[in-house]
Amino acid sequence: MVKICCIGAGYVGGPTMAVIALKCPNIEVTVVDISTHRINAWNSEHLPIYEPGLEDIVKKCRGKNLFFSSEVEKNVAEADIVFVSVNTPTKTHGLGAGKAADLTYWESAARMIADVSKSDKIVVEKSTVPVKTAEAIERILTHNNGKGTNFTILSNPEFLAEGTAIQDLFNPDRVLIGGRETPDGQKAIKVLKDVYLNWVPEERIICTNLWSAELSKLAANAFLAQRISSVNAMSALCEATGADVSQVSHAIGTDSRIGPKFLSSSVGFGGSCFQKDILNLVYICECNGLPEVANYWKQVIMVNDYQKARFVNRVVSSMFNTVSAKKIAVLGFAFKKDTGDTRETPAIDVCKGLLGDRARLSIYDPQVTEDQMMKDLSMRKYDKDHPAHLQPPSPTSIKQVSVVWDAYEAVKDAHGVCILTEWDEFRKLDYQKVYDSMQKPAFLFDGRNVVDVRELRKIGFIVYSIGKPLDPWLKDMPSVA
Ligand code: UDX
Ligand code: UDX
Repeated sequence: MVKICCIGAGYVGGPTMAVIALKCPNIEVTVVDISTHRINAWNSEHLPIYEPGLEDIVKKCRGKNLFFSSEVEKNVAEADIVFVSVNTPTKTHGLGAGKAADLTYWESAARMIADVSKSDKIVVEKSTVPVKTAEAIERILTHNNGKGTNFTILSNPEFLAEGTAIQDLFNPDRVLIGGRETPDGQKAIKVLKDVYLNWVPEERIICTNLWSAELSKLAANAFLAQRISSVNAMSALCEATGADVSQVSHAIGTDSRIGPKFLSSSVGFGGSCFQKDILNLVYICECNGLPEVANYWKQVIMVNDYQKARFVNRVVSSMFNTVSAKKIAVLGFAFKKDTGDTRETPAIDVCKGLLGDRARLSIYDPQVTEDQMMKDLSMRKYDKDHPAHLQPPSPTSIKQVSVVWDAYEAVKDAHGVCILTEWDEFRKLDYQKVYDSMQKPAFLFDGRNVVDVRELRKIGFIVYSIGKPLDPWLKDMPSVA
């Protein structure tokens, strides 16, 4: 029986290993993590992450061929294939701060693998890493091991998106496996390919060299983020000209060369990957003497920051240029619907912007806890993706922020409502009831284009919806940045 061990029981490691266990009954899969808290949660009734369909799979396989354990070294030692799926956050200090990936966790994982291994192993990079990380890891593995064990390194980046992780894993567009072009490298590729062949058609498994696989992951995320920044840049122009960004997206998306996906304008993209991976790409370009290429990709992040700032400015300028002491309801805090993840969520910057103008916020999100929101709103940029157990303890709550467990509670007596996550329930709210309970004039700022603007205007709201023709009220307000 092949034994797989995965280091890192997070959003990537947990669901990926659960699906491998489900699809490969002959493989024993153990997921380990330095956080015993996280492992305990994986072994409990309340999994540490929310992902549709995940719970059923874990329940089916846990204790049979899927295990979650804090015994990191023992399980690594026994495995034939070791996946490494630990955090690779943006560096917060030293060389490359604010751009380069912090590989501390990866490096210590590699040193530990070298220390405890007594048999040959395939080590698989699952975390997104800078190009050429495999080479560095290979050196650590071979130089720290005097026992004659062989390590073969593969890059097998993950393309799952949160909220649809299980679907993405069941039916991936492609599985990418990069390895060295040596006999050992090719043999290792075949071993991993055989695992995926249990459910993925062969033509969807792409095998490349190590560097191509590493770069493809960064490139895929950069291209996806670039589409969003492109449509968001258009949304600003739509507002200025009276065009409707949804109509523009639809019109260009029907061009089969462009395609319809990832063209929804929003208050900005978030998530643990897009910004981090682009910053990483920018840094690699700079290090390789390619400043023009670096600047090109930097713009994708700059437009994203601009979009969030533009939204805050629109809120403040519409409401007579001040939100000081006004209650603003924030509906949605997660970086997208169907996840409780808040890493790099645009809600953080928007809320901080509104708090900067002294607003009082009442926040509701169906999946994000109060503790998480308070942490996010008091944390410095880039500290987010460092493991929770290394972060400072939860701060005392922020005075101007209250977190509530019902959308109607959030909007009561509010001057304005900001929709920041596209949760389905926000499409179905009784907006007449919302309007009746708010201060007048009642403002609604839709950062996700979820509401029916015409209906809401009929009720009496002053509505701003990203990239849509402006409300006459907003047109008369001073222009925004
Ligand atoms: C992580 C990275 O953020 C991402 O860049 C990479 O592409 C894949 O791995 P994710 O699974 O979403 O993605 O992260 P997270 O949910 O934070 O999980 C990482 C886990 O690794 C944490 O549970 C952490 O405790 C664990 N970890 C970290 C270790 O087990 N050992 C370490 O040394 C460091
Ligand atoms: C992304 C990639 O899609 C995935 O392949 C990779 O493995 C990890 O990073 P994820 O961050 O989970 O996945 O979510 P994704 O669906 O890509 O959304 C990212 C952000 O872009 C979200 O904030 C989302 O709301 C936003 N978005 C997405 C838009 O604003 N408009 C769109 O049209 C699509």
